[in-house]
Amino acid sequence: MGIQKRLVGSYFVVICITVLILEIFLMVYVRYYYLHNVERILMNQAELSASFFQQYFADEDLEKQSYRLLKGFAHNSDAQVQIINSSGRLLQDSTGLPGGNDMTTYLDVRTALQGQPGTWRGKDPSTQEAILAVSYPLRANDIIVGEVRFVTSLTETLQTVNRISIVLICVGLFVLAIVTVLGLLLSRTITRSIKDLKQAADQMTEGDFSIRVHKRYQDELGSLADTLNMMAGRILKSEQLKNDFISSVSHELRTPLTSIKGWAITLKSSGNHNEQILKEGLDIIESESDRLTCLVEELLDFSKLDNGRIVIHSAPVHLSELLHHVGRQLAPRAARQGVSLEIQAEENLPNIHADENRLKQVLINLIDNSLKFTDATGRILVHAYTAQEQVVITVEDTGSGIAEEDLENVLQKFYKVDPHAPGSGLGLSISDEIIKLHHGELRIISEVGKGMTVQIYLPIKEKINLTIS
Ligand SMILES: Nc1ncnc2c1ncn2[C@@H]1O[C@H](COP(=O)(O)OP(=O)(O)OP(=O)(O)O)[C@@H](O)[C@H]1O
Ligand SMILES: [Mg+2]
Repeated sequence: MGIQKRLVGSYFVVICITVLILEIFLMVYVRYYYLHNVERILMNQAELSASFFQQYFADEDLEKQSYRLLKGFAHNSDAQVQIINSSGRLLQDSTGLPGGNDMTTYLDVRTALQGQPGTWRGKDPSTQEAILAVSYPLRANDIIVGEVRFVTSLTETLQTVNRISIVLICVGLFVLAIVTVLGLLLSRTITRSIKDLKQAADQMTEGDFSIRVHKRYQDELGSLADTLNMMAGRILKSEQLKNDFISSVSHELRTPLTSIKGWAITLKSSGNHNEQILKEGLDIIESESDRLTCLVEELLDFSKLDNGRIVIHSAPVHLSELLHHVGRQLAPRAARQGVSLEIQAEENLPNIHADENRLKQVLINLIDNSLKFTDATGRILVHAYTAQEQVVITVEDTGSGIAEEDLENVLQKFYKVDPHAPGSGLGLSISDEIIKLHHGELRIISEVGKGMTVQIYLPIKEKINLTIS
């Protein structure tokens, strides 16, 4: 069953039940009210008549005075008036019914003979009309000498009650109709949004993530539409990133492979005769293989990071030793490029708790970047000092730097300012993740043409939740 049917259906059932209960209650009440009113009027008249009798006729003989009494009682009433003696026989009737009938078949007559006012509702034996009868005992000196009985037809009253009931039923049906129409309109506003969402979701499962859901209202469904749109946007972006990544990685793989293959062919044809070429070729093959290995390592690292599988093996690290070690390792390359690489580690640097290899990886990444983007005669300065319970390591270069709008992006994976530049765009994002795993922070300051400074903040005090092996 569709959502609209279910919504309107449940609406309808609830309103139906409510209207039904209300109608029944109102109808019963109206009926009771009208009948009770008629009964009260009759009872008043009977009571009045009985007290009149008690005051003025108590000493007279009921049978003899019955005609006069009847005249008096019937004078002020539209009802049929009867006078009955103490043994239940009819003495007088205002409609001219002959006397002598036994009236004790009627409940009200019997009740009144026992001293209590009685009422009875039923059908007139001759006309089959609905009637109401009220009997009231007539007392003379505390002895029941007979009773006065008022009888009235209920036809008119019941007709009124029925008319009111019909009006009530019509009102009820009208309410139901309005509610149904309103329910349909209201539920349509919901189902329309849902239909939109479903359509868009269907299209997304088909692989079309450019589709956007039209947001109709600012409600939960509206925010669901926003979420869906945002999700599609993200998927599109990651799809784009994936494509960029694949093309950039294949490019990265192809360059060293081409060079290795080229040298292999060269060596095969002429390597035997020329030792110089042989050495140069093998050197290049070696360095290109290293580059390939580096790339693969980086990719592996990245996928591990992405899955949260990188574990930090923390141990005390002698920072200035580590910095000088990295400096010595990269010094030949810097010298080749004509760039000065200087390591400045403050004296008394405290030992920090960290994963030495990972930290080294970060430093190499950063210095590698600086070497890549700094021209000859440029300068790279690695500086380490302590500040407020933290060790700060800065890698500063006088290279090309990057623009402010790129600053926020360079930490993203695969992001390169120049998409055609060598590198996979992973170095900085991996470094950032590693520093975060150490509960530290990596910040970048840069200005185009002036150079770039990367600051690493590492806590000195060991954090308990580091994984220690
Ligand atoms: N010192 C720097 N000077 C100028 N631009 C830089 C510097 N360091 C990084 N960048 C910019 O940030 C981008 C991302 O750097 P990142 O280290 O993440 O990737 P990469 O160096 O291109 O590739 P990888 O490090 O994976 O080999 C670089 O492509 C470059 O555009
Ligand atoms: Mg890099």
